[in-house]
Amino acid sequence: MSKRSNNLPKHVAIIMDGNGRWAKQRSRPRVFGHKQGVEAIKTITRHASHLGIQVLTVYAFSTENWSRPEAEVKYILKLPQLFFDETLPELMANNVQVRVIGDIPGLPEETHGMLNEAIEKTANNDGLILNTAINYGSRDEIVHAVQEIVASGVDASQVDEALIEKHLYTNFLGELSDPDLIIRTSGEERLSNFLLWQAAYSEFYFTDTLWPDFSPEDLDEALEDYAQRHRRYGKL
Ligand code: FPP
Repeated sequence: MSKRSNNLPKHVAIIMDGNGRWAKQRSRPRVFGHKQGVEAIKTITRHASHLGIQVLTVYAFSTENWSRPEAEVKYILKLPQLFFDETLPELMANNVQVRVIGDIPGLPEETHGMLNEAIEKTANNDGLILNTAINYGSRDEIVHAVQEIVASGVDASQVDEALIEKHLYTNFLGELSDPDLIIRTSGEERLSNFLLWQAAYSEFYFTDTLWPDFSPEDLDEALEDYAQRHRRYGKL
């Protein structure tokens, strides 16, 4: 492979946007777009795993998404079940580890249970980490971290970046916590409360493609673009 393999991001995070518009273009209900969005997660996970990406974080449901119509919320929160029912054998065969970030106890029991099952079954794998951000909001994550720090009784002078990072949901990722590349589909160009702390030095890639249409070739294009970037982390 070309340059890309020399400069592959270790952690790719995706804001999967445009499911509703994809369905509307086909005169179908919005949930049809979400269902098709699950198909895109399958193909992109497969591709990311084959390429050797180490972490793929997908933004499945934000703390703000609760304000959508109840039926849509219910539908989205059932999708992990559909996804894992259909793909667990393949995830196991590809050595994928399932992980989650977000306010997991705040999810309905069923969703919570399904996610835990997938996490447990894949716990001994050591390939790609498929990290689902669900009931996730970055501000909520930071509030949660501050609450834990205050409750631990630590002196204010001891609070530093490392301590805050230790209390973020992404802590389990260690040095892979910060995404190298954040992709947002559907032409929108904003973070929408996603990984605000972790995105401090991330590269961004925006595409007009709607999430259900996002293909392995689209991911390749984003990776080629990333490979040309010169990351300076504030230095010259
Ligand atoms: C954004 O499109 C998409 C979502 C809010 C939901 C995405 C969730 C999934 C694809 C399923 C997740 C499941 C697993 C297994 C991780 P939108 O509805 O905001 O689209 P629009 O902007 O066109 O209305």
